[in-house]
Amino acid sequence: MARKKIALVGAGNIGGTLAHLIGLKELGDVVLFDIAEGLPQGKALDIAQSTPVEGCDAASAGGNDYSVIAGADVVIVTAGVPRKPGMSRDDLIGINAKVMGAVADGIKTHCPGAFVICITNPLDAMVWVLRELSGLPHNMVVGMAGVLDSARFRYFLAEEMNVSVEDVSAFVLGGHGDTMVPLTRYSTVAGIPLPDLVAMGWLTQERLDEIVTRTRNGGAEIVGLLKTGSAFYAPAAAAVQMAEAYLKDKKRVLPCAAWCGGAFGVDDLYVGVPVVLGAGGVEKVVEITLNDDEQAMFDNSVKAVRGLVEASRELMPKA
Ligand code: APR
Repeated sequence: MARKKIALVGAGNIGGTLAHLIGLKELGDVVLFDIAEGLPQGKALDIAQSTPVEGCDAASAGGNDYSVIAGADVVIVTAGVPRKPGMSRDDLIGINAKVMGAVADGIKTHCPGAFVICITNPLDAMVWVLRELSGLPHNMVVGMAGVLDSARFRYFLAEEMNVSVEDVSAFVLGGHGDTMVPLTRYSTVAGIPLPDLVAMGWLTQERLDEIVTRTRNGGAEIVGLLKTGSAFYAPAAAAVQMAEAYLKDKKRVLPCAAWCGGAFGVDDLYVGVPVVLGAGGVEKVVEITLNDDEQAMFDNSVKAVRGLVEASRELMPKA
């Protein structure tokens, strides 16, 4: 069987890290596309030259023409610009929605059967725009946010309780922003829910509340430290986990920005919800029950996402 092909649209910090991780995991051959001349070619060549040392049989190539993504099985999109000082939210949406228009055209022309994972911010709106302009089936276009936000939550919890990150499972739902909803009831250490762990004295409610706040601000904390960019190792790892679930038909249950056409009472919006990811893309949205507090936080988050989508609808290129 021929190797799978994974196309990375955007060869910046996340794109380069994705290419490296995908090669190390031998998930398939990688192509990088970017508008910056030489960048995708240079990163691809550098990574290719690491493969004899790593013992990985995975090709990597790069180019500035969308034809390089032809026939890709998976496309991971990081193309776009980050928010710069003085730029309004709408400025960013306007620029990145245009980028999504070009990416959508590229995918429609060269690999319309691909499973597409969007990472470009503002995530919940850009994945909606990308799906809308590409016309791909909703189950084949998904946004990466929940795996990252949940990983941050898991890491902080593991550190606090001095247990393995492997044994901490956590769910973060809603939009990828400060309205995200970390679900403590559904987060566990080896199956023991966080409220029980508080009762057992493993962590205090106060520390748990601080960790929830730190998780919500997880992206901003990294930007504050790096000063010249945003997080890229953890976002890339999260997207690779999603790509692997699709390529290996793993049926992973992961929080993703998935299209809701009625699920959770949400209509025609991408928002962070638990889904089953397998060979059929988003095979199922898992409708867990929310208590009143959780529902109120989720509704608040959905409202924020809807605001972003409405702004994007105005600013995106017309299909
Ligand atoms: N087509 C293709 N690539 C583009 C386009 C375009 N129209 N416009 C910009 N790019 C490329 C840039 O040349 C750059 O190489 O997108 C890349 C983005 O890379 P970085 O600036 O390094 O950003 P990165 O850290 O990788 O994050 C990418 O993911 O998490 C989000 O907020 C983040 O939206 C950002 C995205």
